[in-house]
Amino acid sequence: MRRTAGSLNGVRRTPVVATSLFFAVTALAGEPWPSGSPPSVAQLTELSSAADELYQLERREEFLEAFERGEDREHISVFQDDIDSGLFDLDRLFRAGDALFEHEFRNEDGLGARADSPLLRIHTPSRGGLDTYSCAGCHSQGGPDGAGSAVENAFINGDGVSQASANVRNPPHALGLGLVQALGEEMTRTLQLQRSEAQTAALDSGRSVLVELEAKGVRFGSLIALPDGTLDTSGVEGVSKDLVLRPFGWKGDVARLRRFVENASRIHFGVQSHSLALAAKEEPDPDQLGPGPWYDPDQDGVQRELEEGTLTAGAVYLALVEVPTIIPPTSNELLERWARGSGVFDQVGCNGCHQRKLRLDYAFYDEVPDDPAALPVRFNLLSDGDQPRGNALVELFSDLKRHDLGEELADPHENAQGIPRSEFLTRPLWGIAESGPFLHDGRATTFAQAIAFHGGEAAESRSAFQALDASAQGDLAVFLSSLSRTPKLRVPR
Ligand code: HEC
Ligand code: HEC
Repeated sequence: MRRTAGSLNGVRRTPVVATSLFFAVTALAGEPWPSGSPPSVAQLTELSSAADELYQLERREEFLEAFERGEDREHISVFQDDIDSGLFDLDRLFRAGDALFEHEFRNEDGLGARADSPLLRIHTPSRGGLDTYSCAGCHSQGGPDGAGSAVENAFINGDGVSQASANVRNPPHALGLGLVQALGEEMTRTLQLQRSEAQTAALDSGRSVLVELEAKGVRFGSLIALPDGTLDTSGVEGVSKDLVLRPFGWKGDVARLRRFVENASRIHFGVQSHSLALAAKEEPDPDQLGPGPWYDPDQDGVQRELEEGTLTAGAVYLALVEVPTIIPPTSNELLERWARGSGVFDQVGCNGCHQRKLRLDYAFYDEVPDDPAALPVRFNLLSDGDQPRGNALVELFSDLKRHDLGEELADPHENAQGIPRSEFLTRPLWGIAESGPFLHDGRATTFAQAIAFHGGEAAESRSAFQALDASAQGDLAVFLSSLSRTPKLRVPR
C-alpha cells in the first residue's frame, strides 16, 4: 500500500480510506521544502500525525483483507456507469486509481492465463509475463510511483527462453504523466492542423503544397499535400506518419495513459480489460488475448477482469500523481557547480533534444472513456491532484520526439508498430536523479555512461561532452542530480 502520508507543501495521500483525509493538508501549500524555509514544528507535528494515521489505516485494511479475502478487490472494481452517474468525485477516482496501482493481483482477479500459469519473465510475442503481482512492484524506486531497478526490467517480444531474444525495458518513473499526455495531445493537434491547412491549400490552388511541421518549437520534418488530396509523408521525422505524438514508453509508441493501464495489466499480469474482450467479440485476437470465447479469452475462468471504469480511475490517477521538481544543492560550493553544470547542459547541446521546457496551453484535461456513451472526466492538471503540480511552463527536458541514437543502442527487434530498432523517444529527464539505472534497458549506472551510449543523432553532443575536462563533466552530473522529486514524510514499514 501507499507509503506516503503527506507532502510538506501539498496533499496527503490516502489510498482506500475516507475522503475527508484527501486534499486535506493543502493548507500547508507554499514553497516546497527543502528549497523553501524548513517546516515549522506545528507543521511537522501535523504531517507526522497524518503519516501515522495513514499507516494505521493501511494496517487495518491489511487485517480486514486477511480475514475476508477479496475485500480489497472491491476497491479496484470501478464501474463506468457509477462514474457517469456522479458517484465518484475526483478524490475518489484518484484513490481508486491509487488502490489499483498498489493492488496485488491474484488468480481471483484474473491473474495469469490459467490458475496454474507460471511466471514467464521472457515474454513471447503472444504472451506477456507474468512478471510480478502489482504495478508498484516495478514502480517504486525513489518513492511511490517511482522507477524500477534492473531486476524489474521487462523482457518484451522475445522467445520465452533467452534474454538476448527480447527487447529489454527498464521501468521509468510514473510522475507528472498527465502533463506529458496533455502536451502530446496539444502538439498532435497543432501538427494535424498544419496538415489539414496544407491539404486545403493544395485543393484550392491545384498545386502541391509543402509544409514544415512544427509544434511548441519542435520541428518534425515536412510533408507535401498533393492537389488530388493525397499526402507525401516521406519527409516526416520523429513522429509517426499519422502525426499523433505518442509520448509514453521508451519507443514513444503509446499516446494515452488509459492504454498504458490496460496494456501493463495485460502484459505484466495477464489481466485483460473488458474493453479488450469486447473488441475481441468483433474481431478475435487469439495471439494477444488467448484462444477462449470473447468473454474469457485467456480461459482463466474470470470475466470482466478490468472494468472500463477501472481504466478511467487508473488514467485519472496517473494524470494526477505529483510532478517532479528541481532541487538545487544548498551549499554554496555545490550551488556554483550546479549553475555551471546547467550551462554545460546547453553548451554541449543536450537541450537540442532534452528541451528544458514545453508550454502547456490548456490546464483543463478531459479523460475520455472508450465507450462513446460514457462521460468524460474533466480536471485541472495544474491544480487538482497530488502536490507539487508545477506550472504551465513544464520543465520536462524532452522534445517528445523520436531520435535515432545509433546501432550501439539498438534493440534486437523492431517494436510492434515498426519503429526502427535504433529510434527512441527523447526521454524526459525530470526526476532522473531518482530513476537510475539509465537508458531503455538500464545498461548505464552513471550519467557519464548514459551519455557515452548516445550515438547517431546525439553523437555530436556526446563528443562535445567528452571533450570537456573532468571538472566540467562533474558539474553537469551535479546539475542532473538536481532533477528530482519533493521529499515527503513516510512511516516506513
Ligand atoms: C514488470 C515490471 C512492470 C510492472 C509490473 C508495471 N510496469 Fe509500468 N513500466 C515498466 C516498463 C519496463 C516500462 C517501459 C515500457 C516501454 O517502454 O514500453 C513501464 C512504463 C510505464 C508507463 C509509461 C511511463 C512513461 O513515462 O513513458 C506507465 C504509465 C506505466 N508503466 C504504468 C504502469 C501501470 C499502471 C502498471 C500496473 C497496471 C505497471 N506500469 C506495471 C515496467 C512495469
Ligand atoms: C539527438 C537527441 C539527444 C541528444 C542531443 C541527447 N540526448 Fe539524451 N537521450 C536521447 C534519447 C532518444 C534517449 C533515450 C535512449 C534510450 O531509450 O535508451 C536519451 C536518454 C538519456 C538519458 C537516460 C534517461 C533515462 O531515463 O534513463 C540521459 C541521462 C540523457 N539522455 C542525458 C543526456 C545528456 C546529458 C545529453 C547531453 C550531453 C544528452 N542526453 C543529449 C536523446 C538525446
